[in-house]
Amino acid sequence: MLSEKSLRSGLKTKVFGRKIFSFESIDSTNDCAKALGGCGAPEGVVVIAEEQTAGKGRLGRAWITRPHENLTFSVLLKPDLGVENLSLFPFFAAVSVARAVEQLTGLKVECKWPNDLLLSGKKFAGILLEGSIKQNAIEYVIIGIGINVNQQVFPSELSSLATSLTLETKSHINREKLFRETLVQLEWHYKEIAAKGMNSVMPGWLERSTMLNQPVSVLLQGETITGVMRGLSAEGGLVLAVDGAERTVHAGDTTILKR
Ligand code: BTN
Repeated sequence: MLSEKSLRSGLKTKVFGRKIFSFESIDSTNDCAKALGGCGAPEGVVVIAEEQTAGKGRLGRAWITRPHENLTFSVLLKPDLGVENLSLFPFFAAVSVARAVEQLTGLKVECKWPNDLLLSGKKFAGILLEGSIKQNAIEYVIIGIGINVNQQVFPSELSSLATSLTLETKSHINREKLFRETLVQLEWHYKEIAAKGMNSVMPGWLERSTMLNQPVSVLLQGETITGVMRGLSAEGGLVLAVDGAERTVHAGDTTILKR
């Protein structure tokens, strides 16, 4: 099991990972981090688990991961930012994970809207952001991160869609090192956001997007919309050119069908 001691050894952050709760099995690291956030735990606390019995993905999907092979963890944040910034947090997390993976493996990561990370066109990591708002202010934000690290085999229905770092690099990846580098990148970008605003992470995301200026089909409330991706809105929505007009779709209610 990943122990707090092995994860913290050589960790070069000040706030991120100041306390790490490590579990062999838990329902969901996001739910545990939310409970901690609601009872006064400080910013930077991390919950990590080998196995989640009720791991959550976006849009109500399950996140199923193999114990002892991957990374599944959540970081509790208490940002001093307006609620309008919440929708941009997934981009900050995606760019941080992408940079950490690139540093460690030399691979070039692709960001897929809204918050998937791909290698060779297949997903290897996902991000689930959950937040709590009290009296129109952010009480806390949970950044949940799942990374397929050393998993070699995927269920047949996923094998054309999913990959892992070990499959892409053909080598074993040190999970503790990747975890520490991810926290370093998260902390660095978090400081940038505080100094320069939330939009400062967007260029890093856009330079890793292969959807820009490409045709994209999305499913929105039962309707399929096809357009060309023109960029991101100030709130992180996907801006599409559809039949000569611009249309923005939002992550909470949209599924990418084809890109
Ligand atoms: C997605 O791609 O749909 C998002 C997946 C997010 C999974 C992570 S694993 C750690 C954290 N705890 C959860 O229950 N989910 C997130």
